[in-house]
Amino acid sequence: MRTQVGIIGAGPAGLLLSHMLYLQGIDSVIVENRSRAAIQQTIRAGVLEQGTTDLLDQIGVGERARKVGAHHHGFDLRWRGRTHRVDMQGLTGRSITVYPQHEVLIDLIAARLATGADIRFEVSDTAIHDIDSTSPSISFTDKDGIAQQLQCDFVAGCDGSWGVGRKSLPNAQHFLRVYPFAWFGILCNAPPSNDAVLYARSPTGFALISHRSATVQRMYFQCDPQENANDWSDARIWERLQSCVAGADGYRLNEGPIFQKDVIGLRSFVCEPMRHGRLFLAGDAAHLVPPTGAKGLNLAANDVVLLARAFEGYYKRNDTSKLDSYSTDALRRIWRAQHFSWWMTSMLHNGVDENAFDARRSEAELDFVTSDRNAEIAMAGMYAGAPLGE
Ligand code: PHB
Repeated sequence: MRTQVGIIGAGPAGLLLSHMLYLQGIDSVIVENRSRAAIQQTIRAGVLEQGTTDLLDQIGVGERARKVGAHHHGFDLRWRGRTHRVDMQGLTGRSITVYPQHEVLIDLIAARLATGADIRFEVSDTAIHDIDSTSPSISFTDKDGIAQQLQCDFVAGCDGSWGVGRKSLPNAQHFLRVYPFAWFGILCNAPPSNDAVLYARSPTGFALISHRSATVQRMYFQCDPQENANDWSDARIWERLQSCVAGADGYRLNEGPIFQKDVIGLRSFVCEPMRHGRLFLAGDAAHLVPPTGAKGLNLAANDVVLLARAFEGYYKRNDTSKLDSYSTDALRRIWRAQHFSWWMTSMLHNGVDENAFDARRSEAELDFVTSDRNAEIAMAGMYAGAPLGE
């Protein structure tokens, strides 16, 4: 088998890259170890910056996100029992769309397959070879148990944090911060408790109130990374969530039957550089952010915009300059998003050894970014995100 760009991973980065290359007449094959059904069912967050929704539109896969996604002009910060609406649209002219990641994947897979794309699901033993040569390859066992070899010009490692892509990149430096708290996430059947995404700081910890539809809410509260989701009854979960948002204004969450519980670890990670020879990393394979800044999917999309542009330069004009600058170009936005996500996380969570001084200082920080207009514009701009590929 031969292709121009061999892509490992049918997540957002791999599928977006494959589709953008296709639109430029560049051939790719995707290998993926999960099944199509498993990919389409994995629940993840899904905050799309305006730049990401625009990208989906430009490449012809944005219709459902526009129709069924929830378009938010602002988000809420709540502490000391009061809510402040950050009017992103008014402050920056930009907005976001809450559209879960697996829905984006459903749209992308359908669009890829409609063009006859070659996506190999359920492969195993994936390995990358000869990235220092001009003809690297990917070997894998296909779902029928047959050993395969895919020859390519380039390999894109879009296979997430635990994938073979990052492991195959020699001499990279890894930057890691593991947070001492995690998120306890739930899905429940009840109408939205708030019309925007709400981030709350409280003496009992952080909580995030979001929703998926008119009948399903997604919420999270700060917990210990070792917490076992099964130790929490619905009653105990509601008591905790209500206490995280309680206040003199009497605000209460709409409760309903909880049908999913999960504990999500928080980490910040960057792999630098994101390229070696003919292997390029994109998305979670190269970086992770805590979900507090809602940047994960958007960073993957930005990587792919840069990478697709770099391959276009190579194939259309024999120009390797964008391939050479890919890692540096992508890392600039990645580190800025790292800063933003770390900052939102620290400001909104209770530190493990937090004392009364730390709590007051974080409240003062919230007060500052919601009452100083320049600070609020800066925060809203970071949340809404700059256009992709800049
Ligand atoms: C979500 O709706 O799941 C969500 C929203 C905003 C975040 C993280 C998750 O920052």
